[in-house]
Amino acid sequence: MKTRITELFGIEHPVIQGGMHFVGFAELAAAVSDAGGLGIITGLTQKTPELLAREIARCRERTDKPFGVNLTFLPAVNPPDYPGYVKAIVEGGVKIVETAGNNPQKWLPALKEAGIKVLHKCTSMRHALKAESIGCDAVSVDGFECGGHPGEDDVPNFILLPRAAEELRVPFVASGGMADGRSLVAALALGADGMNMGTRFMATREAPIHENVKKALVAASELDTRLVMRPLRNTERVLSNAAVERLLEKERELGASIRFEDILPEVAGVYPRIMLEGQMDAGAWSCGMVAGLIRDVPTVKELIDRIMAQAEGLIAERLAATLR
Ligand SMILES: Cc1cc2nc3c(=O)[nH]c(=O)nc-3n(C[C@H](O)[C@H](O)[C@H](O)COP(=O)(O)O)c2cc1C
Repeated sequence: MKTRITELFGIEHPVIQGGMHFVGFAELAAAVSDAGGLGIITGLTQKTPELLAREIARCRERTDKPFGVNLTFLPAVNPPDYPGYVKAIVEGGVKIVETAGNNPQKWLPALKEAGIKVLHKCTSMRHALKAESIGCDAVSVDGFECGGHPGEDDVPNFILLPRAAEELRVPFVASGGMADGRSLVAALALGADGMNMGTRFMATREAPIHENVKKALVAASELDTRLVMRPLRNTERVLSNAAVERLLEKERELGASIRFEDILPEVAGVYPRIMLEGQMDAGAWSCGMVAGLIRDVPTVKELIDRIMAQAEGLIAERLAATLR
């Protein structure tokens, strides 16, 4: 399958694995790239630029296919060493960067100068058009269904993707709620050039996270995610658990007066405890509604091969048959 995304990134299949905190390590990124998709290492999960450089090297040892690095720009009192991370990416010879969060404009010159293609992830048309106008090469359009931060506009992909197709000139991928070949064909039909998956890639053999997380994903239904931090305008879609219900109770009690400090126990520094130690009630962790479509834990290659076979079957048989 050839699309503008496979051409742009030099990959075989139009399937991308989005950056995921404490999930997007070299093992997963390399497995996705090796299976013909685009794997992405999560930059900020590495505490320092030196550690990111090491992670990039580890990924390169595992695959000779293209892979990317995610750089998430968050509002922070003490921002991470972004110049250091950019340097590690450039010096590591990485040619694709997925940016997310705040406007990446400030970092584009350094990335572009190094011949790096930038895929910006955003949740609204406003931000997608901005990304295009500042020179991003492609956009990842994250609908309301997505795991992680869906923004504050609540527009699902059935609307957001055709809107993106109407207005964007750069290639874009559908992100949020994507799980299988049906998702890919739907994304293409709505105008996207491929798809990005987060949650689905967590439930794979190579995802270097605790088995408890994978079991929770297989057990979850599409009704089991919650939106937290809405009153702070930092909405995050997470899997429901005891910590999340406690957090939501605080939101109800404190109303508009809630501050980030009030929910620190439920959100700060919880990822290693969940992803690496499998303490499933340690805090809130990102998860998409697509959990309702996850029923097994295949290898990344099995998953991607299955997606492509199903997508090709759908196009060549089911859809083609409707025209006969
Ligand atoms: C556990 C988890 C952690 C994530 N961490 C990040 C992150 O650090 N930076 C980022 O840009 N996106 C992050 N995301 C969002 C994903 O890259 C992707 O956009 C999203 O998962 C797509 O929706 P889906 O889960 O329905 O596939 C995360 C998602 C999950 C599930």
